[in-house]
Amino acid sequence: MIKIPKHIQNLQPYKAGKPIDELAREKKLSKIVKLASNENPLGPSPKAVEAIKKSLSELHRYTNPSAYKLVNTIANKYNKKPSEIVTSSGSDSLLQYIISTFSEKDDELLTSKGTFIGWYVNVHKYGFNSIEVPLKYYHFDLDGIANNITLKTKIIYLANPNNPTGTMFTKNEFDSFLSRVPGSVLVVLDEAYTVYAESYPDYPNGLEYEKDNLIILRTLSKSYGLAGLRIGFAFGPENLIKELYKIKLPFEPNHLAQEAAIAAFEDDEFLKRTVELNRKSLAKMIQKFNELGIEHVSTAANFLLLIFPSEEFAFDLNVECLNKGLILRHVKSFGIPNGIRINSGTMEETDFALEVISEIYYALLEKHKISVNN
Ligand SMILES: Cc1ncc(COP(=O)(O)O)c(C=O)c1O
Repeated sequence: MIKIPKHIQNLQPYKAGKPIDELAREKKLSKIVKLASNENPLGPSPKAVEAIKKSLSELHRYTNPSAYKLVNTIANKYNKKPSEIVTSSGSDSLLQYIISTFSEKDDELLTSKGTFIGWYVNVHKYGFNSIEVPLKYYHFDLDGIANNITLKTKIIYLANPNNPTGTMFTKNEFDSFLSRVPGSVLVVLDEAYTVYAESYPDYPNGLEYEKDNLIILRTLSKSYGLAGLRIGFAFGPENLIKELYKIKLPFEPNHLAQEAAIAAFEDDEFLKRTVELNRKSLAKMIQKFNELGIEHVSTAANFLLLIFPSEEFAFDLNVECLNKGLILRHVKSFGIPNGIRINSGTMEETDFALEVISEIYYALLEKHKISVNN
């Protein structure tokens, strides 16, 4: 019999938001709205779609293994050297590469409770020690994290804005945190939602930092609407990026993803529409949740974290929403058992979601014997 290592036996696999076709099969519903995976409600960048169509006839060829054109496009766009950039099939795969490249047995990998599930899954997959500092008012507790650095700490993972809370830390907070991190500890700053946050004047843009122990992650899955293609990239010091190239699978991101990403970077108009729709959708949601008395966390991203009185309440709300064709994300597996995450949608999707939640919320309050003034 093949012996399965203990850490793999115990591993909880990444659980994504429920796919639309799965719910359609299960419930036979005619209308389904998914606001569970922080995807772009506008669809993919039209320029990316055009580029994919043009590249279809090249699919019999292996793609350029160093993603030369894409890496150079990113370097030009962000004023970096190509040798400071590595691209991959989504930033989730970069997390895996970073952990497997830089960590060794007995190292501690430090982060917050209540952050991106992909980080936890990747840490546990290799059997490393995960140290998780509680959130403070749904924010990363940067002081708490710095206080937990030990001689064994190898990597610190931060997401700004954080998923699933949507909260961000400021430039001052980040600067003072960095000043407490020894040079032997790698800081990974995941900026998956940066496009939504960069209008805040105190948002720290990771690309403006040049540090020997800092890697920044970006993705095209969210604001560029390319989640299904799988494409992300990392910036960091040449000597660290060079090591990641040793680990990276040679032909990722795939050819279509590379071509689409190059085109998407020119689609400023699409990004503008994306940010504007996000603002409008979230504003409408916030107004309604305030009316209903549903607690929510102030967000700098493209989603809102809703807080309910108990895990059971959040579980029930999620199930009731699914029954009515609305897919949300119960974020228990992220470490927030009484939280549900909802991302922005088209205005029609937003209206549908608010209608569904309004319909079931009061009945659930009654079921859980919670008075409205609580
Ligand atoms: C903070 C954060 N990082 C990374 C990812 C993964 O992005 P990708 O689709 O590029 O793997 C997500 C997706 O939800 C995320 O929220």
